[in-house]
Amino acid sequence: MTLWHGRLGDGTADVVMRFSTSLEFDRRLAADDLDASRAHVRGLSRSGLLTQDELERLLAALDQVDRELVDGDFEFSSEDEDIHTAVERRVTEIAGDTGGKLHTGRSRNDQIATDLRLYSRRELTRIAHQVLALQEAFLVRAEEAGEGYLPGYTHLQRAQPVLLAHHLLAHGWALARDIDRILATVERMDVSPLGAGALAGSSLPLVPDSVSEELGFAGRFENSLDAVSDRDFVVEALFDLALLGVHLSRIGEEMVIWSTEEFGFVVLDDAFATGSSMLPQKKNPDVAELARGKSGRLIGNLTGLLATLKGLPLSYNRDLQEDKEPLFDSIEQVGLALPALAGLISTAHFEADRMEEAAGGAAMAAVDLAEWLVERGIPFRQAHAVVGGLVRDSIERRVPLEELIAAHPALGTEAVALLAPGVAVTRRRTPGSAGPAPVRKQIERFVARLDVDRSRIARWDDRAVVPGPSPDVAAH
Ligand code: ARG
Repeated sequence: MTLWHGRLGDGTADVVMRFSTSLEFDRRLAADDLDASRAHVRGLSRSGLLTQDELERLLAALDQVDRELVDGDFEFSSEDEDIHTAVERRVTEIAGDTGGKLHTGRSRNDQIATDLRLYSRRELTRIAHQVLALQEAFLVRAEEAGEGYLPGYTHLQRAQPVLLAHHLLAHGWALARDIDRILATVERMDVSPLGAGALAGSSLPLVPDSVSEELGFAGRFENSLDAVSDRDFVVEALFDLALLGVHLSRIGEEMVIWSTEEFGFVVLDDAFATGSSMLPQKKNPDVAELARGKSGRLIGNLTGLLATLKGLPLSYNRDLQEDKEPLFDSIEQVGLALPALAGLISTAHFEADRMEEAAGGAAMAAVDLAEWLVERGIPFRQAHAVVGGLVRDSIERRVPLEELIAAHPALGTEAVALLAPGVAVTRRRTPGSAGPAPVRKQIERFVARLDVDRSRIARWDDRAVVPGPSPDVAAH
């Protein structure tokens, strides 16, 4: 029997049910749906809409449904359109007529908005922890890298030497912004829509403030129309995950390049690489490639939902059901990519000799020569031209740069010392730069930042009402 059998009769066509059902994916909201229902019925009882006995019967029925779902004993019916109808049907089977009071003053419109906020708040918090774990992996490797250096690139052309630690932490700081964004999104979504009803609230004496408090939200909605139609929080979550995915993609791309024979900067651990079904000699960076590849679909999930939302009039429209699959997909994919990449980074073998050899060429110190001239009063533009001319001469006439510098009246043997391998990187002294002293400072600041972020994230752990649904419940 459908929920709307009173108005429409019971003849919903099979194709309509098949087309419109969301049960296959929204069953992963089961734990959140049950929590929202518990808070809702407690609210109804405080409003005097349920007797103590009815409240207890409903809570006991919700607990039983919870157990059945967790144990995999819950029997879904072909008429369950979504997780909300499935739970309500089963509660009514268990609690009889009292079950019919569960949906008092509530609509699936405020219900789904509530469930999805609970889910997103918890899952984004979990993702933030995983980002932190990846940052910790970068930190450990940066600390281990000591004063090892490699070429820094612009335009993928060797530019200036940088410490490996500096390079690794560059990714760490990008991830810190991802955490910032995720936490800001979580904070903005921390609003309870429950009590908005279908769109306009209720004639019944509901208590949305206390229901919101019970669910650990910072507060209730201000406008019932907005409460049931707002999916900004899903879009923001998808954006945060897409940009995080782009960062993971760039890390992945670098690991792909670094692990080529041409670069040879990294050898991936066997556990984080894959072989070829045909070519016996191959060791492939599939984890890094998938981290790169998944970002495409994360971006697609974001743009798809934006397109779904753009033409919708207020308030709830069934189109909004299309918010869930992209959200679940992005959460799941990022949730898989982060620990895989953290493992790859933690176990990678960085080839220090190869990196230093690549960064040891005399031309890598070209700007140091120019700055050496600047320190002796030569305008930078002029110094740039002098050194540029010498590099060009060296290439065209096939004369070592060192020789030309030694012979140059403004430079000479003192300047040649700058070109020795490993010298240039030690000359980067400014705050935030790539040399040993500033990188030591940077590591301290990064450690402090991780500490701050760890407690910022932990604040949201405490807010989670329940642990996530068990994989059995989430799986079909
Ligand atoms: N499955 C629906 C969704 O995800 C739940 C809300 C249904 N509301 C309705 N008026 N049909 O949006």
